[in-house]
Amino acid sequence: MDILDAIRKRKSIRGYKPDPVPEAVIREILEIASRAPSAMNTQPWEFVVVAGEPLRKIRQGCAEKLNAGESRKPEHHVVGWTNDSIYRVRQVDLAKHIFQVMDIPREDKVKRAAWMERGFRYFDAPAAIVIFVDKTLSETGPILDVGAVMQNICLAALHFGLGTCIHDQGVMYPDVVKRYAGIPESKRLIIAISIGYPDEENIVNTVTTTRESIESLTNWVGFP
Ligand SMILES: Cc1cc2nc3c(=O)[nH]c(=O)nc-3n(C[C@H](O)[C@H](O)[C@H](O)COP(=O)(O)O)c2cc1C
Repeated sequence: MDILDAIRKRKSIRGYKPDPVPEAVIREILEIASRAPSAMNTQPWEFVVVAGEPLRKIRQGCAEKLNAGESRKPEHHVVGWTNDSIYRVRQVDLAKHIFQVMDIPREDKVKRAAWMERGFRYFDAPAAIVIFVDKTLSETGPILDVGAVMQNICLAALHFGLGTCIHDQGVMYPDVVKRYAGIPESKRLIIAISIGYPDEENIVNTVTTTRESIESLTNWVGFP
C-alpha cells in the first residue's frame, strides 16, 4: 500500500472479527514499526503482544475494576483539557458522533456504560500490543518516541489487512495488565493497541473523524 494511502486510510477500528492474528504477522509489523526514529536512537519502547487466555483475563480484570468504580491509575500522563477549550469541544463531538452511529441516546446510561466498557475490554480484539518503557526513563521523555512507533504499528498493520485502535483505556488499570501480560513493576505502561481483522458489519467502524483545516493551524513564514 502506498504510504500516503495508508496514512489517509488509517482510522480507529473498534469492532473486530474473532479470527486470530498470526504471531508471525504481528512480529513482522513490530520489526517494521521499530524503524521509527527515537531520540539519539534510544529506542525506549518495549512491547507485549497478548492474545488468547491472558487477553481474556485482562479484559475481564479491567472491566471488573471499571464496573466496581475503582479509580484509574494510569502510569503515563493522560492528556487533560479545560471544559471551555476547543479540545473539550472536539472530545464531545467525537463522543456524540460515536453514540449517534451506535444509536445510543444521551440519557441511556446503561448503553453508555456498556460502550465505555468496550474500550476497557480492548474492543474484544483477538490480539493487543501493549507498549511500555522502563521506569528509569524520565516520565514524559520517551512519549514522542513511543508515539512514532505506535503510529508505525497502525500503518504497517494496514498492509496485512489489519485494523487497530490505539487506546489508553487499556492501560488504566496497570496492575491487571502487568499481572496477566507478565510485565514487571519496573516498567511504565504507556498505551495499548487493539489489533485484528476489521468487522465490516460492525457499524462502529463507519465512524470517520474530521480534522481541522491546516490553514487554521499553520502560519507560513518566509514563503513568497
Ligand atoms: C494517545 C491516544 C489515546 C487514545 N485513547 C483512546 C481510548 O481510550 N478509547 C478509544 O476508543 N479511542 C482512543 N483513541 C483513539 C482516538 O479517539 C482517535 O484516534 C481519534 O478520535 C481520531 O480518530 P481516528 O483514529 O479514527 O482517525 C486514542 C488515541 C490516541 C492517540
